[in-house]
Formats: sequence, C-alpha cells, structure tokens
Amino acid sequence: MNEDEKIIISPSILSADFTELGRDVKAVEDAGADWIHVDVMDGHFVPNISIGVPVVKSLKKVARVPLDVHLMIENPEKYIGAFAKAGADIITFHYEAAQDKIESVISLIRSFNIKVGISIKPKTNQEVLFPYLDKIDMVLVMTVEPGFGGQEFMGYCAQKIPYIRGKAPENLIVQVDGGINEKTANICKSLGANSLVAGSYIYGSDNIKAAIESLR
Ligand code: DX5
Ligand code: ZN
Repeated sequence: MNEDEKIIISPSILSADFTELGRDVKAVEDAGADWIHVDVMDGHFVPNISIGVPVVKSLKKVARVPLDVHLMIENPEKYIGAFAKAGADIITFHYEAAQDKIESVISLIRSFNIKVGISIKPKTNQEVLFPYLDKIDMVLVMTVEPGFGGQEFMGYCAQKIPYIRGKAPENLIVQVDGGINEKTANICKSLGANSLVAGSYIYGSDNIKAAIESLR
C-alpha cells in the first residue's frame, strides 16, 4: 500500500442535487470515493435542517461504499438506533451535543456493531477528546462552523490534528470536514489527517474523478 491509498475520501452529499441523489452517489463512487458522507442537521444544534433517517435508508439500497453519517443534532442518543438500522456504517456525533453522556453514546453506537466517531466544532479544544480516543474509531475535526457547505477553511482548527495524533492509538482515523479542496487537503494530510470530507469542491467540479484524485 502506498501513502496515497491510506486517505479515505468521503464526499458530502450536502452539495449533491437532491432530485438526483442516486445518480450523484454513483458519480462519486465511480470516481473512487471511499465513503459517502451524510450530513444530518436538526435546526437546533446547527442553524440549518438537512436530511434524516428515510434518506439514509434509501441511500443504503444504492450505495456500494460505507455510509459515513455525521450527526449535527442535539440528543444524538435518541436517533442513533434509527440511523444504525437505516444502514449507517459509521456514526459520528458531536462532543458538544453529548458532553455529559459521551461514554453511553459510544456504547450505544457500538451496540449496533458499527464504527464510532466524535466530532468537535472549531471552538472546542481537542483535549476534551483525549479520554475517549482508545474507545472510538474516528475523530472528526471541523474546519468550519457546522451547518452549511461551501464555507472557507479555518486553518487554526487543523492545528488540532497533531495533538490528537500524539495521544491517539495508531489506527484512529482523523477526518477533517469543512472547506476542503486540493490546497487545504494538503495542509490537513501534512498535519496527520487520513480522511477528508469534501462537498462543494467535489460536486462543484466538472471533473469529479480528478477532484477526488487531487485530494489523495
Ligand atoms: C458542514 C458539513 C460538511 C459540508 C462540507 O456542516 O458538515 O460536511 O458538507 O462542505 P464543504 O466541503 O463545501 O465545505
Ligand atoms: Zn459533515
């Protein structure tokens, strides 16, 4: 395996055409996407509403790669069972939405035999995650304020990555989400990220395959 093959690319369907979701999932899969990133927003944890369980259930019927579900919702424990049963392969919840119940949310996701991720918003210090790094599969470092695609990458957030890497077991996936393009992908990879989410960069490109390859 060469270095490039270790980067997991997870295109965010938030930037897809929702009237052509099946087509747009296939397009990124055919172009080499490793996962499909599904952004779930509740209008409370973030100031936007996106998609939920029925869409994950439909995606599961057509997707050939794992569904990487990013829950930007309050009280994630209320909905984890439904998302897991709908076909999520990885569920990432926000530290800020579950501060007093992190261990139980991790156990709940694990009970469905799927991967567990925890995400932190730009203003959250990486140290809050240190007690949990050996209990989870992935940390998702947000490099924009969650809620919308197409925002500009916030470089200072990516500086959290080496501190997380320094405390994490070797197999922890460190994913970055927000404002990822060819240039910011290089910054994140050089700091130790091995999974990148990209929405507008991939779906806004007229050559999806080249866009995905440029992130590796
Ligand atoms: C933002 C979402 C992201 C978003 C990324 O709240 O979590 O996954 O789709 O979009 P881009 O890549 O356009 O910044
Ligand atoms: Zn996301």
